[in-house]
Parts: sequence; structure tokens; C-alpha cells
Amino acid sequence: MSGTAPETATFSESGPLRGVIRVPGDKSIAHRALICAALASGTSWVHGLPRGDDVARTRGALGALGVYFDGETVVGGRERLREPDRPIDLGNSASAVRLLAGVCATLPFHCVLDGDASVRRRPMDRVVEPLRAMGAGITGAGGDKLAPLDVRGGALVGIDYTSPVASSQVKGAVLFAGLDAEGETVLREAVPTRRHTEELFARCGAAMDVEDGAAGYAVRVRRSALVPFEVEIPGDPSQAAFLAVAASLVAGSEVRIEHVYCGPGRLGFVDVLRRMGAAIEVVPRDAMTGDLLVRHAPLDATTISGAEIPALIDELPVLAVAAAYADGVTTITDAAELRVKESDRIATMAAELAVLGAEVQELPDGLVIRGGGFAPRGTVSSHGDHRVAMALAVAGLGPSGAVEIRDFAATAVTWPGFLEDLRSLA
Ligand code: S3P
Repeated sequence: MSGTAPETATFSESGPLRGVIRVPGDKSIAHRALICAALASGTSWVHGLPRGDDVARTRGALGALGVYFDGETVVGGRERLREPDRPIDLGNSASAVRLLAGVCATLPFHCVLDGDASVRRRPMDRVVEPLRAMGAGITGAGGDKLAPLDVRGGALVGIDYTSPVASSQVKGAVLFAGLDAEGETVLREAVPTRRHTEELFARCGAAMDVEDGAAGYAVRVRRSALVPFEVEIPGDPSQAAFLAVAASLVAGSEVRIEHVYCGPGRLGFVDVLRRMGAAIEVVPRDAMTGDLLVRHAPLDATTISGAEIPALIDELPVLAVAAAYADGVTTITDAAELRVKESDRIATMAAELAVLGAEVQELPDGLVIRGGGFAPRGTVSSHGDHRVAMALAVAGLGPSGAVEIRDFAATAVTWPGFLEDLRSLA
């Protein structure tokens, strides 16, 4: 993987996409692996980090807190951590702000966590409230709802918390805080979300129990001294989704996406695409990774709603593109969280797909897309949102596509080499 993203990019009807490819390492796992390595006393190794800016910001933040990095080596431990000499800028990554808020809540000094204009619009009260309930001194802009977050940590006590939003970032923030709180911290989920925090905790020896039964899903953690570990970050299924939709749309395509994370909570898009008629095989490599084998197939409309939303929330922009090409009316509901991502993805996808000629209706919590006969033509904007940029790129590759995308450089936060990787398949 190489390359840097241009400001403007054009995409047009593609010939068959064929070949074997790896997507960047999973961003959610990467943030958490770096944080766990930073907290573990000694030397850990984190292989396969994605090159995008989001994960680089987490690494930079941990460096500012006193963690030593050398390539894939991380030398961490709470005893190394010290007050940063300036506010920490997490760029475009709200995940980094929220997860690090949980860490900083345990540190006996002052940290300011901030980000770019988009991050400053993202809701932060969802982490401020539980961390404050644990005893952290934490405030935010806009009545404690927004970044920058001002955190004065230390002397936390465990809480028993059910998040009102289905968010694995909230789960991560509370569980990271629970690693250095008195007593037990319990995090319950009404709707299960991705389990990367729990998976990483298991690797680095956190005192943790997971309950996943008739009484619901709950994670219990107690104060823990983490031990160093070595991890290989698997491919990001959210990035694989762009290639899976592209290969589904383009006649004659056959793509194998190698080493993708296949654990719980991330492959909802595969189920939806299969329901739409896509030809996708998941070939396991081990318990948590596999290859996605995708061949072209005509798509039909579907309904996407309810408990399956958290398992495909980041894939909805590109699933909306699939729906525009699919035969029939696709309805997406229960996805109001899309409005508080890097852009308001309901509004941005509705507006830009409409510019390209799709019949789209915006709902408060989703989209209705009348597909079939889509021949996307025109100039659109990413609205500074990496996933909107890549979803619109995929739209341009389909039959009769001719799409120019402004602010395409937004892709650099998670996949700087997207263009080159896509071209390697064409
Ligand atoms: C993420 C969880 C999701 C997802 C985001 C990354 C994570 O957000 O949209 O891209 O790393 O936990 P929420 O948990 O806030 O829904």
C-alpha cells in the first residue's frame, strides 16, 4: 500500500476488478492495541498498523504522555506517564478522543483532548457522563457536550453502567477507566457492539469477565496491571466493504480480500450484501480472520434496521451506493447515529447521491433509496468525510459511472493509498 490522496479524483465505469489485495489494518483495533501497549509495563509489539492519520494521532497522543515508540515497538507502563505540556490534538478522530478520555480519567494530572472542526462537532457527553460518575474531573465545550475535553483524572471508583447509545467507543472509554478504578466497573449493552476492547484486554491480562447470556451482554473489569503483548492488526472490514461493493457492481469482477477481521460485530455488511444477492464467501484463516472472496452479481433492494445497525454503521454510506444500483426500494432506518459521524452521513449521502441522479429520500434516522438504472454522473463533495469520499468513488466505478469527487484527500485519515489499491485491481 502506498500513495497519497489527491484533492480531486475522478472515477468512471470500470473494467472487471480482479486480483488479491490486503486492506489497511483495522483502525478500531489499532487505537486500542496502542493504548493497551501504552498501559502495559514493558515492551509490546503492534504489527500491521494502518498508515492513516487517525491512528497516527493516537500514537502521537500516547507519545506526548510519555510512551516510547520505535517502529512497531511500544514501551509503556503507567509509571512512564506524565502530564503533556500542551493540548493533545487528535485530528479527525473522535474514537481517539473518547478512548483516551477513559485513559486520562485515571491519570493524576491534567490533559486537554481536542481535534479538528469535525471532531469538535461530535458528541462527547456520552463519555463525559460515565467518566464523571466514576469520579473524574472532566468538562467539555458547549455545556460539557463537545471537545475540547479538559480532564483531571485519578482516584476513580467503579460504576455499573448501561450506555444509552450503542457505542463501542463509550464501552471502551468506561472500560479503560475501569482498569484503574477502585472496585468493579460493569459495562452493560442492550445492543451488542464490536468487542475490540474486550479482545485486547484478554491479550494483556486485564482482570475481566464477560457475560454473554440470556441476561444480556456485560463486561466486568477490575484494577489491573497490564502485561506486554504482541499483536498483528488484521485487515479492516470497514475498508473491505468498499471493495466488496465495487466488485459486486462491476461485471466480471472477482476479488479476494485477504486477512480481514471476521470476529463479532463487524461483518453485518456481508450479511446485508448477501441478502441483496451478492456473491461473497468468507474463507476463514483462524478464529478471528479470514479472506473475503467477492464476485460480481446483480443486486436487489433490502431493508436495513434495528439491532443489525451497530454491526454495519460505518458501511452504510457504501451500502447506500449498492442500494442505488440495486433493483427496488431499499430502506435504512434506526441509523440516526450516522448524523453524528465525521459528517452527517444521512444528509451528505442523500445530497450527493441525488446530485449523481439517484432517487433518495432522507429520513430522520436513515434513507430510502429507489435503485435500478443508476447512471451516476456529476461532481460531488466528500464533505471532508473519508467514508463518503470512498463510497462515492465506488459509485463512479459502476455501469455508466462518471464521477468527480472534491475534497478526496479526506481519505488520508484512514486509507491514504485507496486510489492506488483500487487501481491495482482494475
Ligand atoms: C468505533 C465504533 C463506532 C464506529 C467508529 C469506530 C470504535 O462508533 O462508527 O468508526 O472504534 O469503537 P460508535 O461506537 O461511537 O458507534
